Amino acid sequence: MTGSMPRSKKEGPYDGPDVHLNLNVRGLPPSATLAINERSDELLAEGRNVYKLGLGQSPFPVPEPVVESLRAHAHEKDYLPVRGLPALRDAVAAYHDRREGLRRGGDDVLIGPGSKELMFLLQLAYYGDLLVPTPSWVSYAPQAHIIGRHVRWLKTRADHGWLLTPDELDAFCSDDSGRPRLLILNYPSNPHGGTFTRGELAALAAVCRRHKVLVLSDEIYGELHFKGQHVSIAREYPEGTIISSGLSKWCGAGGWRVGTFTFPSSLRWLLSAMAAVASETYTSTSAPIQYAAVRAFEGGTAIEDYLWRSRRVLGALARHVFEKLDQAGVHVERPRGGFYIFPDFSPMRAALAERGIETSKALCDRLLDETGVAILPGSHFGRPPEELTARLAFVNFDGATALSAAQHSMRQKDIDDAFLQRYCPGTVAALDALVAWLPAPDA
Ligand SMILES: Cc1ncc(COP(=O)(O)O)c(C=O)c1O
Repeated sequence: MTGSMPRSKKEGPYDGPDVHLNLNVRGLPPSATLAINERSDELLAEGRNVYKLGLGQSPFPVPEPVVESLRAHAHEKDYLPVRGLPALRDAVAAYHDRREGLRRGGDDVLIGPGSKELMFLLQLAYYGDLLVPTPSWVSYAPQAHIIGRHVRWLKTRADHGWLLTPDELDAFCSDDSGRPRLLILNYPSNPHGGTFTRGELAALAAVCRRHKVLVLSDEIYGELHFKGQHVSIAREYPEGTIISSGLSKWCGAGGWRVGTFTFPSSLRWLLSAMAAVASETYTSTSAPIQYAAVRAFEGGTAIEDYLWRSRRVLGALARHVFEKLDQAGVHVERPRGGFYIFPDFSPMRAALAERGIETSKALCDRLLDETGVAILPGSHFGRPPEELTARLAFVNFDGATALSAAQHSMRQKDIDDAFLQRYCPGTVAALDALVAWLPAPDA
């Protein structure tokens, strides 16, 4: 029930206050990714075979040295500074310096309970329109909606890998240059796994600078670039970019809830405003987790080895999934990082329509019911409902076993289909089930 619904006196005994909801949250559904997970669990409880390719959770365990550090700091019980544990802020700044050559200090870093929460604080503190390329991660727009900000979707094209182009951004911003705008760029991308080259980032940076656009660079999958070649737009547009990162994806620690924002000194006013809001809401991020996170951001051989193996397994899976879909006649871009792929089933639109499937939601509902393969409709990522796109997260396998099997001594070509069949059987079987269910492309 939503909205203001005064109960009439005749209704009977008082059973609590009437429903009065903030207009911005009326009718707001739970996050789509969490909903598909709950639906999959229900089917599993009914004894059905379900392939969970819906929720984008890292399959890999947290690296052992980081877990050890958490154990060693379990006794830390005091509230920490709102902006974060100084040692962690320093470690994050040093990490970006190492990775991107950005000269940042601990004072430029804000730690929060997940980057998602920091994004919410940012949208609350910054006054401007939100620009999001479609398709994009499911939570940016609902956050703007809760806060009451305008969301402007920026068009992208499948034949350009769903990546925002400088021309599209320029055309959009030229209308009212200098207007306060926050652009979220996420690469490698959730939902399609695509990313930008350094040259593309430089061209986008030039447009942002021209129109004074603030950029939130969501690089939570940066370390999962399959070739380890992630580059941040902050290299090209340091004065206007906030880098968002955290431990959820590359360190397998989604449930630990720790995220990081790294600002240039020119945006210190924004960091301070966000910290003020944080001080009145969550106070500070969990202390033991922050101490443990220092170990993750310090890096070193064990972390590099973990990342190297993660990238190999994910890269090989991405290739396998891409090839299967491509061979079935589906339109699909080859992912460059992360653990998602974004197929477009429009080549079989007429055949699917004959089965009564005309929207991405109908496609995903029927696929789950008829095969047990759970994927998310493209409409959740800002695509038109009738476009037959969907996001598939190739994460339903035992990451610990796959990781230990992906030895350093193995050659890349040894992480082949036989390896995947053995260590990621659920994902391989899900793809087989999906492809068997699909009709042939329309003539
Ligand atoms: C693109 C993207 N950004 C941000 C997040 C949020 O991550 P966290 O709040 O766990 O740091 C996610 C999680 O799924 C994501 O996919």
